[in-house]
Amino acid sequence: MNIGILGAATVGQVLARHLAAAGHNVMIANSRGPESLRDLVEQLGSRVTAGHVPEALDNPAVILGVPWTRVQDVLTPEIDWGGRVLIDATNIFTSYAPHFEIDDLGGDSGSEIVARQAPSARVVKAFNTLPIEKMFAPVPADGLRHVLFVAGDDADAIAVVERLVTDIRLAPVSIGALASGGRLMQLGGALNNLELFRANTAQE
Ligand SMILES: NC(=O)c1ccc[n+]([C@@H]2O[C@H](COP(=O)([O-])OP(=O)(O)OC[C@H]3O[C@@H](n4cnc5c(N)ncnc54)[C@H](OP(=O)(O)O)[C@@H]3O)[C@@H](O)[C@H]2O)c1
Repeated sequence: MNIGILGAATVGQVLARHLAAAGHNVMIANSRGPESLRDLVEQLGSRVTAGHVPEALDNPAVILGVPWTRVQDVLTPEIDWGGRVLIDATNIFTSYAPHFEIDDLGGDSGSEIVARQAPSARVVKAFNTLPIEKMFAPVPADGLRHVLFVAGDDADAIAVVERLVTDIRLAPVSIGALASGGRLMQLGGALNNLELFRANTAQE
């Protein structure tokens, strides 16, 4: 599958590497343009290319891996998503270490805000509940995979994301709609930072 990734820091780089290793074609973009990603894409191999944000957006599945505070710069109102799958990996931090601060959404949820900012996309929340190094850390026993929660409002879009998650050797667990599952997954939610394992049943 052709996949765009917005954000080329920890999340963007690690997911690009795993998705490319699974045979997907990835275009990664940051705010500074493809030239700034030249060394990175060289390291990541021929399945990963660098592009401008509008090019990365123009893929059937797009991973949102930018800081929460930059989401509105990326999801501008004129974008016609045409039902493409937008995978929201963001967490609602307004600042990072050493002074982590969480946005006060007043009862709203991050992925519902993302979905409102990209109304023509099918938004699926994934890849946000664990630090990336934990997501891909060794599992405690053979035959186990890290559980990766997924939430969304469109069954077909969820299926696309479940497939990608399985391809990169994680175990997708879908937990319902953005409004319910998404809230459980976001910072402060019951599933955030919960590390679980599932016996692997994926066909390989
Ligand atoms: N790190 C983790 O373990 C982890 C785990 C789960 C979820 N998350 C969430 O995933 C998101 C990404 O986290 P991260 O740690 O990889 O990095 P991050 O520091 O949140 O994001 C930095 C990346 O976003 C890019 N960016 C910023 N503004 C942009 C814009 N307007 N257009 C395009 N790209 C832009 C930056 O590009 P430039 O360098 O060019 O500015 C950089 O590549 C965050 O929302 C985070 O909360 C992180």
